[in-house]
Amino acid sequence: MGEGIKLPVLNGLGRTNRIDNWLRQPLAMGIALTAAMIYTAVRLFLYPDTIHYNVNGATVMSPIFSPNVLEWELFGLNDWNHPGWVNAAILVLWIPFGFRGTCYYMRRVYYRTFFASPVACWVDEPEINKKIGYKGEKRLFIFNNLHRYFLYAAMIILAIKWWDVTHTLHFTEGAAQGWGICIGTLVMGFEAFLLTMYVTSCHALRHLAGGVLDRWTSPIAKLRGKLFGRISVLNRSHGFWFWTSLTFVFLGDLWVLAVDAEMVSDMVLFAL
Ligand code: FES
Repeated sequence: MGEGIKLPVLNGLGRTNRIDNWLRQPLAMGIALTAAMIYTAVRLFLYPDTIHYNVNGATVMSPIFSPNVLEWELFGLNDWNHPGWVNAAILVLWIPFGFRGTCYYMRRVYYRTFFASPVACWVDEPEINKKIGYKGEKRLFIFNNLHRYFLYAAMIILAIKWWDVTHTLHFTEGAAQGWGICIGTLVMGFEAFLLTMYVTSCHALRHLAGGVLDRWTSPIAKLRGKLFGRISVLNRSHGFWFWTSLTFVFLGDLWVLAVDAEMVSDMVLFAL
């Protein structure tokens, strides 16, 4: 039944019968991703000097440069006589890049925006795509299979980001001394929260929690099944967490730059 029926798809790049504004979403996503890559490159290679600021002795770190591994005593990194162009972000960013770059949601985004394969449902793709066809996760795309390993590394980065938030809580100088919060705490805390939501809604984490099992019957398996269900709920909004966590990396960085340039000022909101 139905064999030989041809769907009325118009042939030719970008041709479609759709009457809605189907180009808006992929266009916005393409511009946002390109802007994110350009901003990161400029920050890493042209303006890498300002990576944190100080509020009454507490350190507020730019999300792009957190964790600042060059301050770690581990492996003598703090004593390392590194080349001038090396900074913390250059050493660490391959992890978030790899994690986001191999993300299942991100694959959908770049297939649509950069490869037009297809740009949107029911919209025709370039002839070259049809010639090449879909060959699965092979050649360069074989790296997508590393996603679960990037997930493990991203979880470590996430834990360190929360650790960095604690560095904004202790004020040792000035009038307001003690434990409390400043505006930078809210900025760093919100960035860490959004990243936590992005990581905990990950498809690979869901598989780690409750995948492989045939049935969730034993007590441990039941627990894994519950976790699977919870992550599945978060997973429905994975795209939302992808974009909000990515956006806040840059907003947080702009905040640090603005405070450092004295365009705005941070303050201790309360200290005990
Ligand atoms: Fe998107 Fe894992 S699937 S981060």
